Amino acid sequence: MRESVLTASRSGSAPDVLVARPARPEDAEQIALLSAPFVERGLLVARAQAELAARSQDFVVACEGDRLVGCAGVAPAGDSLVVYNLCIAADRQGRGIGRDLVGMAESTARRLGCSALLALTRHGGKWFGQLGFTEVPANETRDEWRALFRPGRKSSLYRLSLTSEQSGNRSTPACRLKQTKE
Ligand SMILES: CC(C)(COP(=O)(O)OP(=O)(O)OC[C@H]1O[C@@H](n2cnc3c(N)ncnc32)[C@H](O)[C@@H]1OP(=O)(O)O)[C@@H](O)C(=O)NCCC(=O)NCCS
Repeated sequence: MRESVLTASRSGSAPDVLVARPARPEDAEQIALLSAPFVERGLLVARAQAELAARSQDFVVACEGDRLVGCAGVAPAGDSLVVYNLCIAADRQGRGIGRDLVGMAESTARRLGCSALLALTRHGGKWFGQLGFTEVPANETRDEWRALFRPGRKSSLYRLSLTSEQSGNRSTPACRLKQTKE
C-alpha cells in the first residue's frame, strides 16, 4: 500500500503537510475520537473502537504529524465499493481533504475493477454531487446494496459510475495527492 503526501495551502502562512496513509489497528482510538462528534450529530453510524480496529485495513487516514484529521473506509458491495465513515475534523474542513480521500477511494475502486463507488449519506448529498456522484433512485437500488442501509436511518445512496462511457466527461477533479511509496 502507498502513502500519499498532500500539501494544503493556507494563504499567509507556511503550508501544512498532510499525509494520507493506510490506517493501522492502533489508529482506531483516534478514528473513534474523530468520528464521535459526527456520530453525535447523526451524520455517521456509531462504531465501537474494537470494530474500527478490526476494520482498520479498510481505512485511509489523513494525518498532520501525530494528529489524525480525516478518515475514510471502503468496503465491497457487489461489484462496487462503498465509502463509509468519511469525516474530516471540523477545523480542517473545506481544504480539499475529504475530496482527496474520496479520490483515493475512487482509485482503489478502479484498481479493483469496480463498476461504481457508492456513498450512503443523510445530509452530504450536495457535497457528493459536487464530486460527480448522483443519487440512486429507490427503484434502481440493487439487492446487494440494500444491505448497506441501516434500519431506522433515512440515508440516501449516491453513486459515482466508474465505467468509462458514463464517467468520461464528469467535472470532478482528479485526486491531487502526490503518491510516494512507503
Ligand atoms: C463532508 C465532508 C467529508 C467534506 O470534507 P471536506 O474536507 O470538508 O470537503 P472538501 O474541502 O474536500 O470539499 C470539496 C469541495 O466541496 C465544497 N464543500 C465543502 N463542504 C460543502 C458542503 N457542505 N456542501 C457543498 N459543498 C461543500 C468545498 O468548498 C470544495 O469545493 P471547491 O473545491 O470548489 O472549493 C466533511 O465536511 C465532513 O467530515 N462532514 C461530516 C461527516 C459527514 O457528513 N460525512 C459524510 C457522510 S458519508
